[in-house]
Amino acid sequence: MPSRSQEKRETVDLRTAYRDAGCGQLNASWIEREVSVSGWVHRRRDLGGLFFVDLRDRTGILQLSFGPEWSDQAVLDLVEQLNPEDVIRATGIVCQRPDPNLEMLTGEVEIQVDTLERLAVSDPLPILVYQPPDEDLPSEELRLRHRVLDLRRPEMQHNLRMRHLATSATRASLAEQGFVEIETPMLTRQTPEGARDYLVPSRTHNRRFYALPQSPQLYKQLLICGGFDRYFQIAKCLRDEDLRADRQPEFTQIDVEMAFVDQDDVFKVAETMLQRIWHDGLGSSVSAPFERLPYAEALERFGTDKPDLRISWELSDFTHTLTDIGFGIFDAVVAADGRVRGIVVKGGTVLSRSRINHYDELAQEVGAKGVIWLKRAESGWSGPLAKVVGEETSAELEGTHGVEEGDLVFLVAGRDEETAPALDLIRRRVARELDAIDEDQDRWLWITEFPLFHKDPETGLPVHAQHAFTMPVDPDPKLIHEDPFSVTARAYDIVYNGMEFASGSIRCHFPEVQRAILAATGLSDEEIEARFGFLLEAFRYGVPPHGGFAVGLDRLIAVMVGSPSIRDVIAFPKTAAARGLLEQSPSEVDPSELAELGISLD
Ligand code: AMO
Repeated sequence: MPSRSQEKRETVDLRTAYRDAGCGQLNASWIEREVSVSGWVHRRRDLGGLFFVDLRDRTGILQLSFGPEWSDQAVLDLVEQLNPEDVIRATGIVCQRPDPNLEMLTGEVEIQVDTLERLAVSDPLPILVYQPPDEDLPSEELRLRHRVLDLRRPEMQHNLRMRHLATSATRASLAEQGFVEIETPMLTRQTPEGARDYLVPSRTHNRRFYALPQSPQLYKQLLICGGFDRYFQIAKCLRDEDLRADRQPEFTQIDVEMAFVDQDDVFKVAETMLQRIWHDGLGSSVSAPFERLPYAEALERFGTDKPDLRISWELSDFTHTLTDIGFGIFDAVVAADGRVRGIVVKGGTVLSRSRINHYDELAQEVGAKGVIWLKRAESGWSGPLAKVVGEETSAELEGTHGVEEGDLVFLVAGRDEETAPALDLIRRRVARELDAIDEDQDRWLWITEFPLFHKDPETGLPVHAQHAFTMPVDPDPKLIHEDPFSVTARAYDIVYNGMEFASGSIRCHFPEVQRAILAATGLSDEEIEARFGFLLEAFRYGVPPHGGFAVGLDRLIAVMVGSPSIRDVIAFPKTAAARGLLEQSPSEVDPSELAELGISLD
């Protein structure tokens, strides 16, 4: 995880009618000059006749000092009345601080104030902006309800500034690589990305609805057809889906599309852009090209298509070693076409029985039957399997699977789709518990060769593994029709330390293959025509091979500032229940407006 970048002094000219400089811009070179500064009262201290005010604006914090030698009585009376977050303007001479604070950007200097104006008075605060070091932040609900105050906290200022640096770096890098920024519509029709749509009723066309875009996917492909061979957009996307710390109903993508490219060309553009973002935002470098791992291999080695490679443990197939040794549960699973897979946790014998039981419960929560464990201590094997581990099995556990004294083996038996989520979760959670994640590493990874379709667990029908517009490795409509689950896609994701940052693909530009892909999920010819006819029509007039990707900007920034939640890098985010607490959205609508839209509520 990158560290928070050092705050830098802003050097732009911020002079206005109210100030000669930003608070954070003053340093020793200003000493002896008379200046005016404006900002918020961050903190005031009274030291018996002397007053200090920390004045804050977005450039930083500056100490103002008030004393009988340089401030007249009216100023001293006024400063005594100041509330936290009052807005003031102060004028005075910049002086060397007798007690320099080298932790602060402006810690060498202070202003000895002779003129003070109170520009706005603040009511008592519902949440503090100045956070005493030993106090916890208020609850997130309070922070979102009073977001205006929360945004003033230096940490939120830093986060949104990082966002600005990242988008500026994106624009600079993509422009240098020949991309043109183009906006696409917000009022549109459904663009399937696997979530529900937000719908907007039309007043002029009663009973009709616009959909807000889940992504600019179709438009960016149309722009390619329109001759813009390198497009990008910092695009708002809207998806009505279940929310988590890394998902918002309204989020931002760095959306990119290019013509006349293959996968390697796309990878190079994305890597160059991310290098620039890391450089400009964090001052650190990213090594490229990124590692690559095919989807099937990722699932086999890590149980997930988002592996955190900072954890060195990999999954191992114990089927051969642990069947036919007298442990009926495993034999039964294998007879039903399952496997016994597991992880060797180095030094894992320190985990207590209750911790192991905890992981057993976790495994069951994500669909596994449970966990069987084996510990290798100096005295031999222990755990539910120990009594059937004979000499030969023991030798194989040590030789083939690398189990050593002090290790714990977590085993999960079943079909791969049941065992993989449990093994992935155990790998990540146990590594965190045992401090086995190498936090000094940054592991960027391309996952490639995704399947084109997954099987819907309820209907058994094919559903698009990514979205509908990806080129199969073998673009054969007959194969898609007859054996859809065998088809591999030219799709890829960027995974950073176990988090999906981006995804993309080479697109299907053959109309008949595109139709076959849409038809495989159960759409009729009429439905395909009605929903995607405009894309297929565009493909009829000369469509270049093309591909692209989209990076989740919010996730990227959350990692850059080291925040566990993307809500901390969005100015006005929604809660986990998709509510805006500040403006109280969603809200009721006047019945007359509904009537105009032709809508009546139950
Ligand atoms: P995809 O749906 O994978 O691909 O989205 C790309 C990236 O966007 C981010 N992301 C989200 N971030 C916050 N909240 C959400 N609800 C959310 N959903 C997605 C993720 C993800 O990797 N059109 C394709 C891209 C393409 O093929 O070019 C698309 O939207 O970081």
